[in-house]
Amino acid sequence: MEQNKQPQAGFSTRIISRKFAKPDAHGAITLPIYKNAAFEFPDSESIAAAFQYRYELHTYTRISNPTVAGFEDKVKVASGAENVVALASGMAAIANTFMTIAYAGCNVVASPHLFGNTFAFFKSTLAEFGVETRFVNTDKLDEVAAAVDQNTCAFFCEILTNPHLEVANLPEIAKIMREKHVPVVIDATVIPWCGFDARACGIDLEVVSTTKYISGGATTMGGVIVDYGTFDWRHSRKLAKAPQPKGMSQFMFKLKSEIARNMGACITPDTAYMQALGMESLQLRYEKMSDTAYRLAQHLTRQKKIVTVGYPKLETSAYKKLSDQLFTGNPGAMLTVALESKEACYKLMDNLQIIRRATNLFDNKSLAIHPESTIYGTFSQEMKRVIGVQPELIRFSAGLESFEDLANDIDSALSKV
Ligand SMILES: Cc1ncc(COP(=O)(O)O)c(C=O)c1O
Repeated sequence: MEQNKQPQAGFSTRIISRKFAKPDAHGAITLPIYKNAAFEFPDSESIAAAFQYRYELHTYTRISNPTVAGFEDKVKVASGAENVVALASGMAAIANTFMTIAYAGCNVVASPHLFGNTFAFFKSTLAEFGVETRFVNTDKLDEVAAAVDQNTCAFFCEILTNPHLEVANLPEIAKIMREKHVPVVIDATVIPWCGFDARACGIDLEVVSTTKYISGGATTMGGVIVDYGTFDWRHSRKLAKAPQPKGMSQFMFKLKSEIARNMGACITPDTAYMQALGMESLQLRYEKMSDTAYRLAQHLTRQKKIVTVGYPKLETSAYKKLSDQLFTGNPGAMLTVALESKEACYKLMDNLQIIRRATNLFDNKSLAIHPESTIYGTFSQEMKRVIGVQPELIRFSAGLESFEDLANDIDSALSKV
């Protein structure tokens, strides 16, 4: 196979020039969509072999599929990971990861500043299976270290918290976890691989909602689990004895051979096709959106009716130094503004003409949402306090429209507040 001829090639080149694992019979230039459920074999021996964990052979689309494998392969070359599994959504990626690692009686050490469903997954869903989540302040490394004990199965946080825009000192946290033999798992949804080098920071596993940047304009739902192959799973109470086939960690073996197929949250081949296409323009969109977000953040800082602007690259951000260090100068398309009141937020949002009032992030269209009343709307006051969501906050996701149009749209809406 002529797969890896360009190890030094640039990010987009690696993704775009990646060849299929097997040449297409018709020479299709884009990986075709294999929509079928099952794959046939010439004889009983070969179908039996395929079922004995021969991962390059496809038997049934819930377990693996050529189009899905093509998408996973693009993520692999983009991230430099050892193995990648694509699933139906970002939440499926998170749930499958922790179903693989966690066990009754263990604990997860995590930041409480999480996307709403992720927080609820730890606080309620996993808790009901006997998994404790110890929420810590990731700014306080002593607190993070002190929360770990012999039952800690993982450390978890978001690469840039949503919507708080905090950056954990991942290299330092990874050092602590390495000493304590605990895997570092991050949700890297908001900073894709062209903006962050997970391996250099000591990250073992990433979960990503590919619904966001990767899908190429919110075309489809998806998620990936990215395994850098760096953690020694002999330290895991649950996975220490799992088989470790060549080129695959015990974590990946358990995930592929049991958890993912039993949970059944497979990504469809149509979706994998869309997302593989999205990967090809990822860097271009990410850089343009990051640039627009930064310019908008600078512009909004000068507006009197805005109390604060959140963007990690601004001098006013407490996380600027870490963001510059970790995110190659591009901390993405998410920015926030705080106004005087929730009513002012609603007024601004209701007067936007170009920016859409919608949840989601990193669509080609710019989006605005009031997180407290929507994403966290059903949460109790206590949960909102733990997560730290302010009613005076609007979250924006900068899209691909021109900066001037977006700035004018917000200015005009602000004039009505
Ligand atoms: C940081 C983060 N992680 C995970 C998710 C969940 O992803 P999905 O909606 O694809 O399940 C989201 C969704 O907004 C998110 O923002």
